[in-house]
Amino acid sequence: MLTKKTIGFIGAGNMGEALIKGLLASKKITPAQILVADKVKERLAYIVEHYEAKVFTKNFEVAKGADIIILAVKPNDVKSALQEIGSDLNKDKLLISIAAGVTMDYILQCLPHNIPLIRVMPNTPALVLEGAIGICPGQGVSKEDRDIAVAIFEAVGKVVLIENEELMDAVTGLSGSGPAYVFLILEALSDAGVRVGLPRKTANLLAIQTVLGSAKLAMESGKHFGELKDMVTSPGGTTISGLEKLEEGSLRSTIIKAVEAATKRSKELSGR
Ligand SMILES: NC(=O)c1ccc[n+]([C@@H]2O[C@H](COP(=O)([O-])OP(=O)(O)OC[C@H]3O[C@@H](n4cnc5c(N)ncnc54)[C@H](OP(=O)(O)O)[C@@H]3O)[C@@H](O)[C@H]2O)c1
Repeated sequence: MLTKKTIGFIGAGNMGEALIKGLLASKKITPAQILVADKVKERLAYIVEHYEAKVFTKNFEVAKGADIIILAVKPNDVKSALQEIGSDLNKDKLLISIAAGVTMDYILQCLPHNIPLIRVMPNTPALVLEGAIGICPGQGVSKEDRDIAVAIFEAVGKVVLIENEELMDAVTGLSGSGPAYVFLILEALSDAGVRVGLPRKTANLLAIQTVLGSAKLAMESGKHFGELKDMVTSPGGTTISGLEKLEEGSLRSTIIKAVEAATKRSKELSGR
């Protein structure tokens, strides 16, 4: 599907690099199919050195040369980047925006004419090809363009299709911000290990591997999370004592409130 396409990146920071790395690792495309523009020259030199992609200092050159353009600049830079490339986009190209909280309406308002547009919300584990990615196709986007976006982002993680753009705030609140919640939990588990006498290094490794292994077990078994929890919890045993404390501390409702708050903030930032 991607073999004859060229993919252009406007912005090659953390997320742009993660996508370039994932696409090349997946062997779905070659370096010759990747065009990159960034306003930081050192960044372009780094991209050439590590990924052998074609780089440009002008955004419009990427917009002209690529079939698919991935807008990967910070939300505040979206408008100026679009102004530079708007006249080089047309209905035969696909624009994909990964800018958090930037609506498709806003993007289309910054462009001189309507074009196929898809909004995507990835997260930082895409850097290690384990991202969680929400993809929301704009109105009138063809099935082929939607499948192209899915193929690109499946190179860096697991993809879910989101039909209603308003739910992109919920994706932001859960999986976009989610890695920070998990890192906080990892830090807490590690501190807890130290509290009960383990050396820090040992506690770190046990905490990371427990989260990684539990996530893998949930993904691969497909079992209900409650059933997996019950498998660890024997009558009168250690786990139920720990779980009792988590319930006392309202962990479940605290996490629900955290995702709600992040979702609300995402709505505020996108001006709704
Ligand atoms: N990182 C995440 O966890 C995450 C998750 C989901 C979505 N996103 C979204 O992904 C987008 C990129 O995030 P990031 O973390 O990769 O940002 P980043 O590391 O700051 O990368 C953006 C790059 O684009 C450059 N740039 C800025 N304006 C430009 C322009 N007009 N033309 C060309 N290049 C330009 C930046 O240069 P300067 O540094 O000089 O500005 C920087 O090198 C953001 O919109 C963010 O909301 C990020």
